[in-house]
Amino acid sequence: MKTIIEPFRIKSVEPLRRTTPAEREKYLKDAGYNLFELHSSDILIDLLTDSGTSAMSTAQWAAMMRGDESYAGSESFFRLKKVAEELTGFRHVIPTHQGRAAERILFTVMCREGDVVPSNTHFDTTRANIEFRGSRAVDLPSPEAADTQSRHRFKGNMDVDALEKLIEREGAAKIPLVMLTVTDNSGGGQPVSLENIRAVHKVASRHNIPFYLDACRFAENAYFIHQQEPGLDRLTPKQIAQAMFSYADGCTFSAKKDAFANIGGLLCTNDDRLAQQERNLLILTEGFPTYGGLAGRDLEAIAVGLEEVLDPDYLEYRIASTRYLGRHIADHGVPIVEPPGGHAIYIDAGRMLPHIPRHEFPAQALAVELYRHAGVRGVEIGSVMFGEHARHELLRLAIPRRVYTQSHIDYLVEAILEVAENKEKLRGLRIVSQPEFLRHFTARFEPL
Ligand code: F0G
Repeated sequence: MKTIIEPFRIKSVEPLRRTTPAEREKYLKDAGYNLFELHSSDILIDLLTDSGTSAMSTAQWAAMMRGDESYAGSESFFRLKKVAEELTGFRHVIPTHQGRAAERILFTVMCREGDVVPSNTHFDTTRANIEFRGSRAVDLPSPEAADTQSRHRFKGNMDVDALEKLIEREGAAKIPLVMLTVTDNSGGGQPVSLENIRAVHKVASRHNIPFYLDACRFAENAYFIHQQEPGLDRLTPKQIAQAMFSYADGCTFSAKKDAFANIGGLLCTNDDRLAQQERNLLILTEGFPTYGGLAGRDLEAIAVGLEEVLDPDYLEYRIASTRYLGRHIADHGVPIVEPPGGHAIYIDAGRMLPHIPRHEFPAQALAVELYRHAGVRGVEIGSVMFGEHARHELLRLAIPRRVYTQSHIDYLVEAILEVAENKEKLRGLRIVSQPEFLRHFTARFEPL
């Protein structure tokens, strides 16, 4: 059989609420045209994020019942530690309440004012945590990533020459760590090749700089490597994931992505001294090192999820479903970041709406219109989110794991193509109020 099906059946459902265009217009106005301010019950299909929005499996729910809620020495922690150690090879597995908590602890311990932290592309919380420490976050994407339309296989790769030059210019002493985000979320959900991971590891280790993976979507990245990197289809996604981690000195991880959990994160390392400092900070703000801000039942859900996500049937369906959405809109003229990424499709709103200049936020305008037209929520990844650091004006449609079915995806295709038919009529937005930091969460807009 050629049809790729959802490799699960549905045991528990949540109703979706339909709204009228007039209702949505009112909700938009009340929200200051910022979709983070909407109530989720007013959204039909929510593609704001794939983070914490997965459907858990029966095995995960069952495991949660045996959550050991002991303050210290929880059995649930040791179960998670075993799974994480086997997967990543890291000796120290420190649980945190989510990915950014792991980032804050890592950068607090490793970075000083004036330091520089390179990555292929830092995610917004990663960048913000580095900058909050007084260090500088530097993106070194591969040259292929500059053109959203080019169809290279591993557009998430880091530009290794640029990394060498940065180290030469800044001096290794000013670079406390090098990071790679897999998959490259802010760069279009694009994968990083094992060859690039190895090359970055080589450069970093030659200069004695620790190398970390931001491993939020490690399984999707591993599947792309399995599918597309010459000679690597003979390895299972799990073997590839293990190989990816084997080149790193540590990782940050948000269990809200490739562990199908609704909350949770991990900070891992092989460095004993660093781990001790990290645990000290953990106790200060997250909790004791055998729960790190999570309930025992959350630790159980993550432990099961980390194994389920590497199921080749699941990953085949996951990547195929995202590609289906991408191909069906791109082949009908809607420019997306090519090729389709792992967890999301990114519409290149800058290219789609050339009549709306950057400072009038074309991707935000498109996000607003898609909600107004069809009740679908996406998220702007462009000048609203990244300000002057934005490389493109993108509307990300992130697909929650195991949540929506093929007919939902078909509805999305229809909605996006209808919006695209009237794209000349779309107008930009003006910011009327914004906070200093992470402004995309609370900025308010006015239509022009
Ligand atoms: N790193 C990457 C690559 C991410 O995508 C995220 C979160 C984080 C770190 C932080 O993890 O949310 O658990 O604190 N990304 C979500 C998103 C929010 O919508 O892409 P967290």
